[in-house]
Amino acid sequence: MRPGFSMKNIVVLSGAGISAESGIRTFRDGDGLWRTHRFQDLATPQAWEKNPHLVLEFYNERRKQLFEVQPNEGHKALVRLEQHFITDIVTQNVDDLHERAGSGRVLHLHGELKKARSTKNPNLVYTLDNWELKWGDKCEEGSQLRPHIVWFGEAVPNIGLAIQIVRQADIMIVVGTSLQVYPAAGLLDYAKNSIPVYLVDPKAEAPYYMKNVVTIREKAGIGLPKLVDELIEKYG
Ligand code: APR
Repeated sequence: MRPGFSMKNIVVLSGAGISAESGIRTFRDGDGLWRTHRFQDLATPQAWEKNPHLVLEFYNERRKQLFEVQPNEGHKALVRLEQHFITDIVTQNVDDLHERAGSGRVLHLHGELKKARSTKNPNLVYTLDNWELKWGDKCEEGSQLRPHIVWFGEAVPNIGLAIQIVRQADIMIVVGTSLQVYPAAGLLDYAKNSIPVYLVDPKAEAPYYMKNVVTIREKAGIGLPKLVDELIEKYG
């Protein structure tokens, strides 16, 4: 055991807000994507059936931007936790900024923008090395590739694993999520009652049913570095 390494488990539930300072749009905040686009036309299986070209284009635009942006101070602060705690990140985000910042244990609930999967065999998943996924790009079994994203109305394959992770948490950090999309938002119900929960979001509102919530009404890039220093000092 390294000196200064606590056996406490820290679990971070992150959402689009942690990537906002990297230049990636959120969904429901300010100029969020669902304020200017209809998710029904872009992020559902029905949308894919109706107009796959529009869906491919929507995700290609977001993927193209992802190759041009960098992790921010919020992502980097979470990496520092790993030197002191067992740290798991459960993210609703489909960007790879947690990984690129250096986080070692990242579980994606809603898929990954830089991956594509077979429309015939969901076990065939491919990492895209450039931003464009085209109609006609096929899997090894000859079927069209689709974005490796969990669309509205689709199952969240990693939710069971996420629940197990949250159950083990001794400390929880919830950053940059409006907590409006289930089952991700319901993960908090699985946290032990007694543990401290830190909510980092300029518009943080502690869910009425949660005790022990510390709200930090700051942007992730400001609030997380301070919180990480405090947690290392207090529990590290
Ligand atoms: N730092 C921290 N939080 C921020 C920042 C910032 N710089 N900027 C905005 N926020 C907060 C907003 O106040 C809001 O509470 O981030 C939250 C973003 O909420 P949403 O846009 O709803 O994003 P999210 O909660 O991740 O959405 C969940 O919905 O459309 C689906 O699959 C999509 O994963 C997404 C899911």
